[in-house]
This record gives sequence, C-alpha cells and structure tokens, in this order.
Amino acid sequence: MKNKKVTAANTADRYQLYLRSVQAPDVDVQFFQRVYRSQFRRPARILREDFCGTAAVCAEWVKGNPEREAYGVDLDPEPLAWGQKHILSKIPPAKQKRVHLVEGDVRTAVTPKADIIAAQNFSYCIFKTRAELRAYFLAAYKHLADQGLLILDLFGGYESLEDDKEEVTKHRSFEYVWEQHRYDPITAHGLFKIHFRFKDGSVMQDAFQYDWRLWTIPEVREVLLEAGFDRADAYWEDSDARSGEGNGVYRRREHGSSDPAWNAYIIGVK
Ligand SMILES: C[S@@+](CC[C@H](N)C(=O)[O-])C[C@H]1O[C@@H](n2cnc3c(N)ncnc32)[C@H](O)[C@@H]1O
Repeated sequence: MKNKKVTAANTADRYQLYLRSVQAPDVDVQFFQRVYRSQFRRPARILREDFCGTAAVCAEWVKGNPEREAYGVDLDPEPLAWGQKHILSKIPPAKQKRVHLVEGDVRTAVTPKADIIAAQNFSYCIFKTRAELRAYFLAAYKHLADQGLLILDLFGGYESLEDDKEEVTKHRSFEYVWEQHRYDPITAHGLFKIHFRFKDGSVMQDAFQYDWRLWTIPEVREVLLEAGFDRADAYWEDSDARSGEGNGVYRRREHGSSDPAWNAYIIGVK
C-alpha cells in the first residue's frame, strides 16, 4: 500500500479548526445572559444548546456560575464525542457534571425545562418548510420554562444569494473559506461549504457542508408567533460610528438598513 503524503490538511482536526474559525462561545453566553436579564430581570440558569455539535457553548455556560446547568442536543455522536474529549474533559469535574449531552433530534429530545434554548450558526435552516420549522419551534416552546427565550441567529443580504462566492478569513496557520456554492431563488435553498487551506498548499475541501433554506427575518418571526411565542424580537447589529461596519453589539430593533451581508438574532419570548 502506498504511504499517503503527510500534509497539514490530512493531519488537522476539522472540529478544532471550526471552533477557532466560526465559534465564540464566550461572546454567545454574554449575549444570552444580557438579553435574558433585560427581559426577565433575573439571570438564566438552565441553557439548552440545540444542534450543539461539540457543545462548546454548554462548556462556556457552566464556567460562569455554580448554579448553571447545560443540556446539549445533537443527532450526530461524532461531534458530541469530540466535545467530550477535547472540551468538556478539560474543565473542572464539578463543572463537567453540570453539562448533559443528549444524542437525539432537537424536535423530540426530552430535557428539563430550560430558561434559554439557543440554536446557533443557522442550524435550524435545515428545516425547509414552514411546517417543519413550526414543529421545531413548538418542541422548543414545550421545553422552555414559563419565562423562556428561544435564541436563533440568521444571516442574509444580497451578497449571501450569490453562487460560487468565497469569503476567506486568514488565521495564523490556515485560511478559513466560507463558500456559497449554490442558491436557488425558486426554493430559497442554498448549499454552503467550509474549506480550510494551509500554508503547505494542502486543502481540506468540504470540511463541512450545509444544505439550508435561507429564511428571512419576518418569516422566522411569523412562525415563532404561530408556534405560540408571545413575542418574536429581531436584534440588529449596531454600526461603528467611524467605519460604518458592524461592531458586534446587537439591539432589539423594528427596522434595519439594507446591508449586503448581515447577521442578526431572532428571539422568541415565552
Ligand atoms: C452547523 S452545526 C452547528 C454546531 C454548533 N451549534 C455551532 O454553533 O457552531 C449543525 C449541527 O446540527 C446537528 N443536527 C442536524 N440536524 C439535527 C437535528 N434534527 N437534531 C439535532 N441535531 C441536528 C448536526 O449533527 C451538526 O452537529
């Protein structure tokens, strides 16, 4: 058998690269607590991270306060096992005990009632019809406490509808590539891919792929209300006064400006 050439691409760990390029669990947790406190005037205690993958947000959640518990739900045992080995095993045992991983479907997994359910990085866009989306929101509603928030994120803008478009972010030892592969205006389905490129010229092609419906903010808000939420709020990013670029601070708004590529949060309030 021929020896496979050792390259950065075939020795790198795709979950580690994803974590470094895509996620910021500390920022997520701060945002979740800020919104929960301003809504209910008390801190949230139980978080359920839907589509949790490696459960990085669960791990961050329990770091904050000894009262906090986190439930991570994902269908795929592979990222759950990776998270257990590389993230959860590295936090103190007393904190680890307060993270509960559930291998299952977010629509049917049974967990104690949570103050917050968070579905991040657009994962719920796998639900492609209003009926499927509503069924998920109904399940989330059922698993929320009486004072509960379902926190969703979303992206859009006309740049996100272009085919064969790459956005490259440089890191010290690799490049993160977000590819918008194909968008179908009739179905609003989009195929997106993540690749990683390395200094030795090697490429980890299609490290992750997502087949999503590109929902709009009003559609998601309407379906949240149909599922029984009292309110469905949109949080839009503030702009830096000098550069005009987004500054990472999201506030509840009724109107936004036509940004070519935006990220926003949509929050269902129970
Ligand atoms: C885009 S990743 C999100 C990872 C992480 N939450 C983040 O914010 O980066 C999507 C995850 O959703 C999981 N998934 C897809 N469909 C699911 C379902 N119906 N129920 C539970 N997990 C699901 C996949 O296994 C995958 O780990």
